[in-house]
Amino acid sequence: TTPSPALATPSPAWAPEHMARQYIVPCMRHYGICVKDGFLGLELAERVLQEVGALGRSGRFRGGQLVSQSDIPSQNIRGDQITWVEGQEPGCQGIGALMAHIDQAVMYSAMDGQLGDYTISSRTKAMVACYPGNGTGYVCHVDNPNGDGRCITCIYYLNKNWDIKIHGGLLQIYPKGRAVVANVEPLFNRLLIFWSDGRNPHEVKPSYATRYAITVWYLDAKESADAKEKYRLAIGQKGVQVPVTTNSST
Ligand code: OGA
Ligand code: MN
Repeated sequence: TTPSPALATPSPAWAPEHMARQYIVPCMRHYGICVKDGFLGLELAERVLQEVGALGRSGRFRGGQLVSQSDIPSQNIRGDQITWVEGQEPGCQGIGALMAHIDQAVMYSAMDGQLGDYTISSRTKAMVACYPGNGTGYVCHVDNPNGDGRCITCIYYLNKNWDIKIHGGLLQIYPKGRAVVANVEPLFNRLLIFWSDGRNPHEVKPSYATRYAITVWYLDAKESADAKEKYRLAIGQKGVQVPVTTNSST
């Protein structure tokens, strides 16, 4: 239904369709990387931070897993502690709302083939990650080197008063075929979006303070269907597909 004239105010700058069309789509097409500061309203951002802190204090985080087996102790590859959140759990409603906002931003961006011919039909749960600040990071890697279905990585950062020179924890992305490095500081209320495949090798520099981030991966329908056939084995929680939130009326 058409809103009454009194309600038909212009979209605020952060309306998801506006953010997608004006900002995320051009960034992704030109760089394959997009950084959006002030992604959530401050009240919700604070709530997400408080929920993640409570998850940490409740002892829910476990050592991050590696897909491939190797003799190298996993902490030497990735030193984060993680937990998977669906968003409906008690104490996770703010995280659920964050995921709905990211869903909207990604779905509006991928609409009408604006991001190429991906068909995004599902995503992973949210991976809440904490680097405890003991000097561990995550060595250079590609999130999806082997066509496991993941096409877009979204990382939402939660760290206030973060100073790279003191706390480390910089994310460095080395876009393939370009002589540039993207330095992304893990700042509070910042959303980072990038292609999950070989176009974006990246690493997390050693972190010397508690560093929180929430990651979701969006899956391409065809690639993930092919991958399921190819491997037959679930790849842990990353293989758990959940439907993407459909547009609400906001
Ligand atoms: C990852 C990762 C980057 C970051 O978990 O795969 O690359 O900045 N994280 O936390
Ligand atoms: Mn990664």
